[in-house]
Amino acid sequence: MIRLGLNVDHVATLRNARGESYPDPVAAARLALEHGADGITAHLREDRRHIRDEDVERLRALPAPLNFEMAVTDEMVEIACRLKPHACCLVPERRQEVTTEGGLDVVGQEASLAPRIARLKEAGIRVSLFIDPEEASIEAAHRLGAPVVELHTGAYASGRKGELERLQRAAQCVNKHGIELHAGHGLTYENVAPVTALPNLAELNIGHFLIAEAVFVGLGASVRRMKELLST
Ligand code: PXP
Repeated sequence: MIRLGLNVDHVATLRNARGESYPDPVAAARLALEHGADGITAHLREDRRHIRDEDVERLRALPAPLNFEMAVTDEMVEIACRLKPHACCLVPERRQEVTTEGGLDVVGQEASLAPRIARLKEAGIRVSLFIDPEEASIEAAHRLGAPVVELHTGAYASGRKGELERLQRAAQCVNKHGIELHAGHGLTYENVAPVTALPNLAELNIGHFLIAEAVFVGLGASVRRMKELLST
């Protein structure tokens, strides 16, 4: 059974857009867990544009695995070592981007990744590297002793030709090294099936589509409730 991690960043985006206290990403996480999500993912960005420090503290207190997405910085390593989430997914981060565009440059950053991965592992945290589906990055992840890699499915989700085959080749390579395979980014009801067929896929992390879809699944009920209040 493939595990589903729900990324709650976009619940926080909606909250922050109005400077309100709702919708609460932690309440969304609780609801998702009640409905079968296996874990929660949250990305504490350097600029705190969606998830905030207090959100990760509260997510950590939930009785479910927290996959803490973070940039490879000393600040984030400190926060992670204090928080001790189930897992840390190391991602590239650029301030100007709207979402995580592309995987980590594991080969180019090997020297700076090594001590940080070691520190996280010493703290008992499962380290995952978010990478593009390419052999060189997988080999580097293996050299660095990363127990997990998450393959970036964004290029596949955008419909680019040859990307599914690239993911399949990468999955084989991940399997060959005995690394646990995760995947995510841009996944929807429509494009998820071929990804679920990747060999030994253990986990998918999905955010934007599920939060967007929740508007349509839930809007009817929220309008009905308001109408009830107006008619009493
Ligand atoms: N996995 C990682 C490492 C990510 O950075 C993101 C996006 O924040 C996701 C999964 C989820 O992507 P999406 O929101 O497109 O489903």
